[in-house]
Amino acid sequence: MTSVPQSGIDLWADDVLVDPYPAYRALRELGEVVYLTHSKLYALTGYDVIKDALADPTRFSSAQGVGFNDGVNRALQGTSLASDPPEHTPLRAALSENLTPRALRGLGEQIKANAQALVARLVKRPSFDAIDDIARRFPIGVVADLVGFQGEARANMLRWGQAAMEVIGPMNQRTAENFPVAGELYGHCSQITQDALTPGSVGWGVFEAERKGIVPEGAARHIIHQYLGAGLDTTLAAIGNTVALFGRFPEEFAKVRDDLSLVPSAFNEVLRYYSPVHVWSRVATQDVEVGNVKIPGGSRIAIILGAGNHDPRHYKDPEVFDVTRNPIDHLSFGSGLPTS
Ligand code: HEM
Repeated sequence: MTSVPQSGIDLWADDVLVDPYPAYRALRELGEVVYLTHSKLYALTGYDVIKDALADPTRFSSAQGVGFNDGVNRALQGTSLASDPPEHTPLRAALSENLTPRALRGLGEQIKANAQALVARLVKRPSFDAIDDIARRFPIGVVADLVGFQGEARANMLRWGQAAMEVIGPMNQRTAENFPVAGELYGHCSQITQDALTPGSVGWGVFEAERKGIVPEGAARHIIHQYLGAGLDTTLAAIGNTVALFGRFPEEFAKVRDDLSLVPSAFNEVLRYYSPVHVWSRVATQDVEVGNVKIPGGSRIAIILGAGNHDPRHYKDPEVFDVTRNPIDHLSFGSGLPTS
């Protein structure tokens, strides 16, 4: 057993958030496990150790939440995000059942029609802002329709969704400033009733699952809170990152324009290249050995998805943005735990 390398890097410092990849490289070069002295956290930096940890909830648990401060971890209680099997299984199944291709068929047509209408409007303008007019606008409508939100909730979704992700990190100024806004979302969801949601929507289906006893009583509101917290900022970042990367690498964009069958591969590469969620968390249930390092039981662990996605031991030339790479094994969706 070797002693754990240490680093003073603060993963949530503004300059690291703006361009985290040099920091990730420095951490990876120190070791697959590094102790972050600023945040007092163990961090996993390599692709293989991250993949293994995400697949093993018996040693790397989500039950105490997946954020880095007590407030957010309390708010996540009752959701699939803050649970391990067997409690996780029905919560996740309610999600999967409502998101099957069959359940989403009608919504898929609607999403396509919305996308075409948005593009038709935008191409008539001399210029537009890709972040405000596409990356922010488009997912709001999709997630609102998916969950079945109407009225006040739709108008607040962008503020709420962004704040929900901003409060995942350790308690710093940014986290503190976002808590009141994230609290509005929590408050709204804790009051929500099935009849406030569009019949047949995914949110409506989750209430049905509660009524049939498929998820525990009271879980539907938590799950709906989670959809909005998890579904908006992530998609917004993914679409914004697509535009940014196509702008930065026009020759790769040209390949996709010439061959639209590359779209799925290119999108996987966008998710690998710029992870929408950079850092996620687990707690060690016991003393665990990772690489040659011992992490004490009870430690909160930072799982740096963005660092694993650029690990040269797993991806050849990870700094190259290659729309033909199709990295379907990227880490950006976290564990994707089996539901049975
Ligand atoms: C590009 C888009 C997205 C990215 C990058 C993303 C990323 C993630 C990550 C990193 C996790 C954590 C998994 C873990 O703890 O191991 C997660 C879980 C989750 N996400 Fe997403 N997500 C995206 C889109 C969405 C959307 C659109 C929704 C729904 C509206 C959604 C709902 C959820 C839910 C419910 C969970 C918890 C799943 C579970 O507990 O097993 N996500 N996502």
